[in-house]
Amino acid sequence: MYNYKQMSKMLERFKKATSPVLGRYFEDFAVDSAKGCYLFSTDGKKYLDFSSGIASTSTGHCHPQVVASAQKQLKKLVHICIGVALYEPYIKLAEEIKKIVPIPDALSFFCQSGSEAVESAIKLAKYAAKKPGIIAFQGAFHGRTLGALSVTTSKMKYRDGYEPLLNEIYISNFDIKKVEELIKNHSIAGVIIEPILGEGGYVMAPRQFVLDLHKLCDETGTLLILDEVQTGFGRTGKWFAVEHFGIVPDIMALAKGIASGFPFGACVGKKEVMDKWSPGAHGSTFGGNPIGCAAAIATIGVIKKQNLVKNSAKLGEYLKKQLQKLQQKFNAIKDVRGVGLMIGVDFGDSAVVKKVLNGCLKEKLVLISTGGDGTVIRFVPPLIVAKAQIDQALKIFEKVLCQI
Ligand SMILES: Cc1ncc(COP(=O)(O)O)c(C=O)c1O
Repeated sequence: MYNYKQMSKMLERFKKATSPVLGRYFEDFAVDSAKGCYLFSTDGKKYLDFSSGIASTSTGHCHPQVVASAQKQLKKLVHICIGVALYEPYIKLAEEIKKIVPIPDALSFFCQSGSEAVESAIKLAKYAAKKPGIIAFQGAFHGRTLGALSVTTSKMKYRDGYEPLLNEIYISNFDIKKVEELIKNHSIAGVIIEPILGEGGYVMAPRQFVLDLHKLCDETGTLLILDEVQTGFGRTGKWFAVEHFGIVPDIMALAKGIASGFPFGACVGKKEVMDKWSPGAHGSTFGGNPIGCAAAIATIGVIKKQNLVKNSAKLGEYLKKQLQKLQQKFNAIKDVRGVGLMIGVDFGDSAVVKKVLNGCLKEKLVLISTGGDGTVIRFVPPLIVAKAQIDQALKIFEKVLCQI
C-alpha cells in the first residue's frame, strides 16, 4: 500500500531532526500536496480529508481565491509589523470581522494561533477588569502556551510537568451555582468557555447553563470570553457557535478556520472592553501579518460567496443523520453528537478508535480523534465538502466498522 522504503526513510529523518514532543495521529502518513477536500501522499495516493488539518482548512486546501490573495500580498508586502506602520490588509480584515461577529462595534487584535488568541483574551479581561481571576470549565482545551494551558483541562497530560501554572485560575463544571460562588468569593475578571468542547470530545455546553452564565456575567460585571477557535467561521452551521445560544459575549478568541490554514488568530472584543487596553499593554511582531490577513480576507469572502455557512448547516445535518443510522447498526458507536460540520462519533474506547482511524486511512479517508481519552472520532471536513464526498466518507467508515 505505502511506499515503505520512502516512508521509512522520511520517518527516520523526521526522528533524527525533530523533537520527540510532537504527537501524531498516524505513524506512517506523509503528505506532499493538497487540493480542496483531498490530500496527496508522498507516494502519489489521493486521500479524502475529513480532518481539515484539525478543523482549519475551512475553504478547503489551497482554495484558488485564498492562494491568489496570499500570493498577491506576498509580492507586495511580507512584513512590517503593525507597530511600525499601518497596512491595508490589517484594517480591512478588522472591518470584515466587525461585519460577521455577533459583537456590535467589535474591535480586533490579531495574532498567530489559537493559543495566542486565548492568551490575548485572558490578558485583555484581566487588564480591562483590573482583577486577577479567570474561571474556566472542566474538560476545556484552550491551548498549550502557559496562560492558555492554565485554563485547559481536557487532558491532564497537557499540564503534567508544567505546574505551577498561572495563579488565580478557577476550574468549574457547568454548574451555575458553583460559578456564582466563585465570582462571589474571588476577584474574577472573566469566564472563558468553549461553546462546544473541541478537544474535550465535541460536547455542546448545556444551553440553559450558557444563558444563565451570560446573565450572571452581565449582573456581576464579569467578562464573558467565548473561545471559538475551533467552532468559528461557519464550522457549526453559523458564522460563530455562540449564535446557537443567541447571546453576545464580551470577548472572543478566534483562529483555525479564519485563514483557511494560514497561521492566524484574533482576539475580538466589545469596544467598551477593548478601549480599556492601553497602547503597548499587549502586542506581537508578526501578529496580523499581511499575508495571513490577505488569506483571512479571502477566506471570509469565499465563505460568503459560496454560502459555506449554509453548506455546513445543511450537510452537517445530513452527515449527523447518516452517522446516527450507523449508530443503530453498530453497537461500538455509543453516541453521535455535534452541530454543522463538527460531528463527533463516540466509541467510548480509544483502542477501537485507533483501529477505525487506521482502517479508514488504509481506505484513503483521513479522520482524527478527539476527547480526553481519544475515544471520539471527529468529522470536520472542509466547509466546501459536497454530499458525494460525505457519502464516500460514510461508505468507507461503514466498511471499516464492519471489519473491526
Ligand atoms: C477551542 C480551542 N482553543 C484554542 C486552541 C489552541 O489553538 P492553537 O493550537 O492554534 O494554539 C485550540 C486548538 O485546538 C482549540 O480547539
